[in-house]
Amino acid sequence: MSNNQNSDSQTSGDSAATKRILTGIKPTGIPHLGNYVGAIRPAIQSIQNSDDEAFFFLADYHGIIGCYDPAIIHESTKAIAATWIACGLDPERVTFYRQSDVLAWILNCSCAKGLMNRAHAYKAAVDINMEKSDVDPDQGINMGLFGYPVLMAADILMFNATHVPVGRDQVQHIEMARDIAGTFNHRYKPLFTLPDAVVDKDIPLLTGLDGRKMSKSYNNTIPLFGDPNPQVSSEKQMHKAIMRIVTNSQLPDEPKDPDDSAIFEIYKAFATPDEIADMRAKYAAGIGWGNAKQTLFDKINAEIAPFRARYEELMANPKELEEILQMGADKARRHSRKQLDKTRRAIGIRPLAKLK
Ligand code: TRP
Repeated sequence: MSNNQNSDSQTSGDSAATKRILTGIKPTGIPHLGNYVGAIRPAIQSIQNSDDEAFFFLADYHGIIGCYDPAIIHESTKAIAATWIACGLDPERVTFYRQSDVLAWILNCSCAKGLMNRAHAYKAAVDINMEKSDVDPDQGINMGLFGYPVLMAADILMFNATHVPVGRDQVQHIEMARDIAGTFNHRYKPLFTLPDAVVDKDIPLLTGLDGRKMSKSYNNTIPLFGDPNPQVSSEKQMHKAIMRIVTNSQLPDEPKDPDDSAIFEIYKAFATPDEIADMRAKYAAGIGWGNAKQTLFDKINAEIAPFRARYEELMANPKELEEILQMGADKARRHSRKQLDKTRRAIGIRPLAKLK
């Protein structure tokens, strides 16, 4: 996808020449290293030396699709918000807020059902059911999962975002948002900018403790910050998790293959090119697994340690977080109110007469 596709999509008056970057994170767990290197760090870096406008939000309505535990949604919202701020997100510089679902219903009506039938996440859930006999293909699938891409389109189109940094697994959703915007623009009037996905090819999906992809749903993550625990510091918890990464049974002094090692892969996401080359040489020379893990821990810890105090302070003082999110809500509303108003008028929902 290229930017010039963007320029031939019609924009509503309020999106200027600068990029408008937007991305969301679902609050359904405690942030881990994969979230940090894949989303949080690049998002913060990408706006550090630019004039681009940025909208970062907590996708809590997406969270409730598969997580029915209100305590987890609540705690995770707090932990994810605290993580963004502790890692350096400046809430004055960007618009940082909670998602809204008002636009989604209108867009549902500009979205073909057949388009949703083709969504990867929905199809995967149906395929699992189809493999079992006697099971309805839609068993256990709620309308939230089925309509997931529409809510995501609403997140993006509400702000006429031009650039949406996401993981590779989300690219189809951005294409669907373009499709829905196109239908609406054609049917009513060109209110919505067609967004482009921005995918960082250099950042691999991190491997988890058990060798599978690092994911909250596999319970194999290395948390970025530990649980509050007066006995075991967050630093010790990270050390312990790193020591648990599975390795093969090669002994110290045996030459090892860095490209087949989760330790090396995670190291690459934190180290400089020189340090990576150095580590490669150490693998060839037979570095022991314990030693490699310690080097990995030292590297990650050097980057994360400065954020810990702020994280713990915010977790202990959710009032400050709530204030930040309220400020973001005000800023977000200023943009979205206009867009929502135009959208309602375009579809015929407007005051019948002016009252004075
Ligand atoms: N679906 C995204 C994920 O699971 C989260 C998300 C929700 C999002 N709405 C969005 C990302 C809008 C970018 C833009 O990672």
